Amino acid sequence: SIIVMDFGGQYNQLIARRIRDLGVYSELLPNTLTAEEIRKKNPKGIIFSGGPNSVYGEGSPKCDPEIFELGIPILGICYGMQLMSVHYGAKVERASHREYGKASISVNPGSELYENQPTDQTVWMSHGDLVIAPPEDFVVDASSSSCPVAAMSNKAKGLYGVQYHPEVRHSEHGNDLLKNFIVNVCKAETTWTMEHFIDEKVEEIRKGVGDKKVLCALSGGVDSSVAAALVHKAIGDQLYCVFVDHGLLRKGESDQVVDVFQNQFNMNFIRVDAKDRFLDKLAGVSDPEKKRKIIGNEFIYLFEEEAKKLDDISFLVQGTLYTDIVESGTDTAQTIKSHHNVGGLPEDMSFDLIEPLNTLFKDEVRRLGSELGLSDDIVWRQPFPGPGLGIRVLGEITEDKLEIVRESDAILREEIKNAGLDRDIWQYFTVLPGIRSVGVMGDGRTYDHCIAIRAVTSIDGMTSDWARIPWEVLEKVSVRIVNEVDHVNRVVYDITSKPPATIEWE
Ligand code: XMP
Repeated sequence: SIIVMDFGGQYNQLIARRIRDLGVYSELLPNTLTAEEIRKKNPKGIIFSGGPNSVYGEGSPKCDPEIFELGIPILGICYGMQLMSVHYGAKVERASHREYGKASISVNPGSELYENQPTDQTVWMSHGDLVIAPPEDFVVDASSSSCPVAAMSNKAKGLYGVQYHPEVRHSEHGNDLLKNFIVNVCKAETTWTMEHFIDEKVEEIRKGVGDKKVLCALSGGVDSSVAAALVHKAIGDQLYCVFVDHGLLRKGESDQVVDVFQNQFNMNFIRVDAKDRFLDKLAGVSDPEKKRKIIGNEFIYLFEEEAKKLDDISFLVQGTLYTDIVESGTDTAQTIKSHHNVGGLPEDMSFDLIEPLNTLFKDEVRRLGSELGLSDDIVWRQPFPGPGLGIRVLGEITEDKLEIVRESDAILREEIKNAGLDRDIWQYFTVLPGIRSVGVMGDGRTYDHCIAIRAVTSIDGMTSDWARIPWEVLEKVSVRIVNEVDHVNRVVYDITSKPPATIEWE
């Protein structure tokens, strides 16, 4: 494998990702990893990532200096190269102006990293500091007009550095450089695939779990579904899946979950039909935050109740992705963490966590899901919030209002799929704002509900733009909703980006 050490740069996740795409297993690990820990993992190479700090800055991340003595090839990227330079006695200076964006470098002959690449290439720079002259015994492999050491190396020691970011697509031959590093320098075999990932994880889960029992909270979402399928492949009937149906799912969704996991995968599957309980608890409540809290608490409460009925559960499966770990700011998690308590479960019910997806990105999880036999409907499911339709019926929730959202949402989903747009739009759904307006239908006056369509494009849900759905598709959706869903006489389209709006309306 190749270990990527995390010094906090914004593209770090991409580095490990690119290496995996090149066919070598790679994971991003914290920069606090010691030389001893690395030796145990026996990687073919190490990559130091970029980072926002200045190497001389107070509290700037460092690495165990012993790592340089392991005899394992190292590639330092941006901050990583500066760290390497300082370790070997070179000076890093503040650049006269911050360099951000495209730059042209020219390559000196001789470096393995630039084998079979043009001498002049465009790269992506993003830095405030610079290495002015390389450390002793290092040679300059590339430079640009404003960056005297754009790349450097000490071949004998297997040490390489690049000031720019080979992992981003704007660096024309960045991928070739990474490939040359892992193949020419590290001599890593490029045979890793998703099937290997499954084999390795299955082995790891079996070893970690032994003959103990494992619990999984299934929501039907991509992540928990793929995690459950993977763990099930490893330990079969030792896995118990609990599916709390809060009645706030989309049309047909809960039947689909039952069908896939109970009928197709034949898992130990417990469905908690709690629709009435949730609606009771939510009756008369219109404040969005209160609604979210009630739904969240009730969910955990019901899950706990089921967990208690099952004796001797030792592990809990979580479909945490790499990005979730980054967002919640925890240390890079290991596959099986010790006694980590989850989301409000009481102290006397501490499980060990199994997080088999925590090195993967969303699209890798989708590939994994397909490989495990999950259908496209599950694997390509759009993100869906935990509180479900409960936050798409604005204000007080009633069964009638839920029905309006459920039916209109089903029509929207159907038409988006028919138009072949379902994989291009990040999320698309309908909202019931609770506004009534005047309309005319069949010569009669109506005074009825309005449905809002929300459809956004996004990379990660943090920011988004409204999707430019073709007018003909919107027209079809609008006509069908008004004709087919009772008590709707008007359809509007939400054309706000995030920020300033959010994706969900509550
Ligand atoms: P907002 O509305 O904050 O949503 O722009 C960003 C993304 O998060 C989803 N979302 C949730 N997901 N539990 C979840 O699992 C929640 O309570 C929740 N609220 C919002 C939302 O659908 C969008 O993808």
